[in-house]
Amino acid sequence: MKKIVIAIDGYSSCGKSTTAKLVAAELGYAYIDTGAMYRAVTLYFLQHHISLTNPKEIQKALSNIDITFWYNAKAKRNEVVLNDLSVEDEIRKMYISNQVSEVSVIAEVRRALVAQQQKMGKKRGVVMDGRDIGTAVFPDSEVKIFMTADVLTRAKRRQQELLEKKQLVNLDEIITNLEKRDLIDSTRAESPLRRAEDAYLLDTSHMVIEEQVDFVLHKVGSKILNEAYSEQQS
Ligand code: DC
Repeated sequence: MKKIVIAIDGYSSCGKSTTAKLVAAELGYAYIDTGAMYRAVTLYFLQHHISLTNPKEIQKALSNIDITFWYNAKAKRNEVVLNDLSVEDEIRKMYISNQVSEVSVIAEVRRALVAQQQKMGKKRGVVMDGRDIGTAVFPDSEVKIFMTADVLTRAKRRQQELLEKKQLVNLDEIITNLEKRDLIDSTRAESPLRRAEDAYLLDTSHMVIEEQVDFVLHKVGSKILNEAYSEQQS
């Protein structure tokens, strides 16, 4: 069967990653968490004290950054790897969440990561989640989903996720962070977060994860069937 690209974009903490991961597993597709890549760059910039206003320094830093993903069989999860070291846990911490949007607005950073993401999805058969997948990385994605949810629901989900990683963070701090990131992500000059015209809107405020996954799989199923039918007719 023809492999396609599934783009899942939307606001922070709507359940994009969880949904994307399960959809990828169901279809036997690769899953690429592009937010993790921006987080890994942010971690590197902080570790190396890179000035966010110095394009030369940024360019040099980017040439020293290698981001890949590997499957950690022991932990049974995909992990993002920065220069041969898994940074999966570190990049989920609040100090990274508080900086990542500022790093994501930098044109040089976006150019480098978008190019890498396009390479990763070149053979198709991927589910990619982020902010600009359906609009900038793969505008020709066969299925585009734009996820949203009310901010309190998102904050509670994020708080629970952090708690599971033994990080106790106040709900107000999370709400402030989500609202700030949403604002920066959707108003930046370079590929801002916005719903592609042909993206299906998925509001997960009152949904459980299985319903979200079913929604996406249903759209994928229809797309594949329609394409197969069109091919038969031509
Ligand atoms: O999905 P996430 O919360 O881990 O993403 C972290 C940040 O990375 C998000 O606030 C904006 C940025 N990002 C982006 O600009 N473009 C993407 N495709 C993915 C994430």
